[in-house]
Amino acid sequence: MTYYKIRGAQPLSGSIKVGGAKNTLPKNIVASLLTDEPCIISNVSNIGDVTVTLDMLSSIGTEVEWLDHSTMRISTPKVTSHIINSQFSGINRIPILMLGPLLHRFGMAEIPLLGGCKIGPRPINFHIDALKLLGAEVEIIDGKYRARASKLQGTTISLPFPSVGATETILLSASLAEGTTVIKNAAIEPEVIDLIAVLQKMGAIIDVDVDRTIIIDGVKRLRSFKHHALTDRIEVASWACAAIATHGDIVVENSDQLGMMAFLNIIRKIGGEYEVLENGIRFFSRGDCLNPIFLETDVHPGFMTDWQQPFVILMTQAQGLSVLHETVYEDRFGYINELRRMGAEIQVYQQCLGGKPCRFLHRNYPHSCVVKGQTALKGIEMTIPDLRAGFSYIIAALVASGESIIKGVYYIERGYDSIPEKARSLGAHIEVVEE
Ligand code: EPU
Repeated sequence: MTYYKIRGAQPLSGSIKVGGAKNTLPKNIVASLLTDEPCIISNVSNIGDVTVTLDMLSSIGTEVEWLDHSTMRISTPKVTSHIINSQFSGINRIPILMLGPLLHRFGMAEIPLLGGCKIGPRPINFHIDALKLLGAEVEIIDGKYRARASKLQGTTISLPFPSVGATETILLSASLAEGTTVIKNAAIEPEVIDLIAVLQKMGAIIDVDVDRTIIIDGVKRLRSFKHHALTDRIEVASWACAAIATHGDIVVENSDQLGMMAFLNIIRKIGGEYEVLENGIRFFSRGDCLNPIFLETDVHPGFMTDWQQPFVILMTQAQGLSVLHETVYEDRFGYINELRRMGAEIQVYQQCLGGKPCRFLHRNYPHSCVVKGQTALKGIEMTIPDLRAGFSYIIAALVASGESIIKGVYYIERGYDSIPEKARSLGAHIEVVEE
């Protein structure tokens, strides 16, 4: 077992580089299944979700060649099986995205149950309903999803909520479908637009219209693409919170301002600072106390749910009462107890606090919290419950006095590349211990 030992109370300072995003790279890789030609993806991060996605594709005939440490050529001249084996069951959210491409290549597809972080029930009913509307038969048998379709047919699909994954499933399924598909209430996150950019390079015809409408004109064939993966804006925000919470001053190279506007506004409101540079964004603290804030997570262009956990550590360092309303996931405060043990004063509520009622109103989900700051945090031993919570524990440990032991680090390694190395280069005392 590997764990991190962190000695805190040290401001971070220096420069780190963030690579391709955990929430786009696997989708770029799945898109390559839509052609038999070789595709090239650069800016690839060394993270668990990329490795698992490549393993899943390799098991059905995909060939992967590394051109350098962050550039790969990936090609699937022939899909050798339509089955993603159950050994990949419960690992991440990616297998569902493979159904459409496998149906186009093979006419049949079988995938295991999905995994990913336990932050709510995370059903996939929107994906399945959309595939059925496109003409696929989909059934769940023995813990596996089986789909069959001789062809997919364009249609109009209205999503009940602008789901990132469901929008991506439709994009990956409808690009080669017959006729036109319209997605209403589609997700328009930069990660979704990046997938559209990849598909466009491959020959797809996709319009992003007003009011969350995406129109896909099916084409007969898709070809190879070359793509530089989108920078991980969740990782950028995570390091930004670490810098400001420790009263540090860091440059996060490769940060893209456009995908981070909501985050940057909130950083300024809480009293943190940033400066957009040519090669990235500098995040620093003005040295004053941070201000408390009311914050609501939302779909794009709102404040991302994945920024929530690192940001709560900043709230523990602000002077006064902050309120946070999580509106994307029902159960994303599972990490709060450990922060309380560190000395944070946080209370979780089932009500929709502060803003407008969300779809979790009166459904008994602990989806709002009040954070009372400023509190001194002290180092403890803790076990990571999910990916983003894991990074928030790292920030808390960097802020805290004394030593923290952080177990379950494989969760973070699914989505963050080289955390100990980057943290050390910023002056943090972090040791990786193998037991
Ligand atoms: N939802 C349904 N039914 C569906 C699909 C979604 O009810 O069929 C609900 C979900 O339960 C959730 C909401 O809709 O309450 C939003 O889910 P969405 O489908 O947008 O999320 P996702 O595609 O499963 C991706 C990221 C998440 C990120 C969300 C929101 C990947 C692999 N995951 O998940 O990332 O939080 O979009 O932006 O792209 C993370 O990186 O830590 C992470 C959880």
